[in-house]
Amino acid sequence: MSDNSIIAGLDIGTTRVTEIIARVNAEGEIDILGVGEEPCQGFRRGLIVDIDSVSSAIEAANKRATRMAGHNIPSVFVGIPVIRVSCATSHGMTATSGDDWRVTAFDVKKALDAAKVLAVPPDREIISVLPQEYIVDGLGGIQDPEGMTGIRLEVNAKVIMGQVAMLENIAESVERAGLKVEGRVLEPVAVAQAVLTDEQTHRGVMLIDIGGQITQVVTFYEGTPIQFLCVPLGGTHITNDIAIGMKIPFEEAERIKHRNSLGGQNDRNNDEFIRDIIDARLREIIELIESETREVRNSGLVPCGVVFAGAGSSVPGTIELACEILDLPAQIGKSRLIQAPKGIEPRNLSQVALGIIRHVAGDSRFFLAREFEPSTFRKVLSNLRGWFDGFLEDFF
Ligand SMILES: Nc1ncnc2c1ncn2[C@@H]1O[C@H](COP(=O)(O)OP(=O)(O)OP(=O)(O)O)[C@@H](O)[C@H]1O
Ligand SMILES: [Mg+2]
Repeated sequence: MSDNSIIAGLDIGTTRVTEIIARVNAEGEIDILGVGEEPCQGFRRGLIVDIDSVSSAIEAANKRATRMAGHNIPSVFVGIPVIRVSCATSHGMTATSGDDWRVTAFDVKKALDAAKVLAVPPDREIISVLPQEYIVDGLGGIQDPEGMTGIRLEVNAKVIMGQVAMLENIAESVERAGLKVEGRVLEPVAVAQAVLTDEQTHRGVMLIDIGGQITQVVTFYEGTPIQFLCVPLGGTHITNDIAIGMKIPFEEAERIKHRNSLGGQNDRNNDEFIRDIIDARLREIIELIESETREVRNSGLVPCGVVFAGAGSSVPGTIELACEILDLPAQIGKSRLIQAPKGIEPRNLSQVALGIIRHVAGDSRFFLAREFEPSTFRKVLSNLRGWFDGFLEDFF
């Protein structure tokens, strides 16, 4: 198996950083090799305000993951929160290049690259291009054109753009930790790969990721995101409310919140009081989502209801409040099974990091990019080889 098949996914969350290193095997299955987690500070309202503190957390998570995997990795695919993102529709076209007129992965990459050619405002940068449909020789509605016969390949795509300053702060935090950003994946798009089925994203579903400082919402319909939303509230606010309400330190409030989520008993009166505090903040979050998503819900575009993700959604009452306020069926999303080393429970891992691995593994463009642009990955490997040869020469 070549080292080209090793991928690292990095979730820089507002409360914890998780890095997962995985190998995609010959059958396209994912094997987790290493996991590293580290508590993280340095965010305000979901944005990085202290690069050093975030990069130390990334460095620590990377150290753990590489030690477990037995592999040093030079670069990571990083999750990008949907804060200040904008969206444009675009069209790309290319002639197929294969001798037998079959569409190759290379042609798909060329068509998507062509879709990137559009006017981007100076304070914005393209994060990713999400294909909506491919068109082969005029026949549209195609989801996977690879292997089809035709001479002209077109794509209708959504181009997601982010704010340059925000993206640069993320890149800088990663680079100060000694890593390179190999690619970027929108966090809720990654989470969708980890917890949603193709059927749900095609029929219509709303994914709500309640994190620490932010709650990210994306609605999928016909396989693509049709609305992104970020509410600057999350689990940290609930803990703060408990701390203030009960006049106790944040750490103690956090412990009480976790115990409450597990159905554990505190004091009966306190339990009711805590539930009321949690309920009030959760209600605020879901009501904000309600007012912003009225159009997609009223248009009947969410028949599969709401799926919750993020550790913040573990608090009691999440499902009930969502059903009541959004008037949709709701459930907690579970990460799909994946091979992991002993002692690692994939269901407890960051759904962002897992989803990034799935997203990259399922997209031949990423591997093509490694093939065609001699990657940092290979450069580091050959440098290491050079260093190792020199090291041997010193001895013999
Ligand atoms: N068992 C639990 N019960 C209740 N809340 C929990 C539990 N475990 C974690 N949380 C809460 O989940 C929140 C963190 O969620 P998560 O790890 O998904 O966030 P993050 O990815 O670090 O942040 P963000 O997504 O905002 O960038 C914290 O507020 C934490 O208190
Ligand atoms: Mg998160």
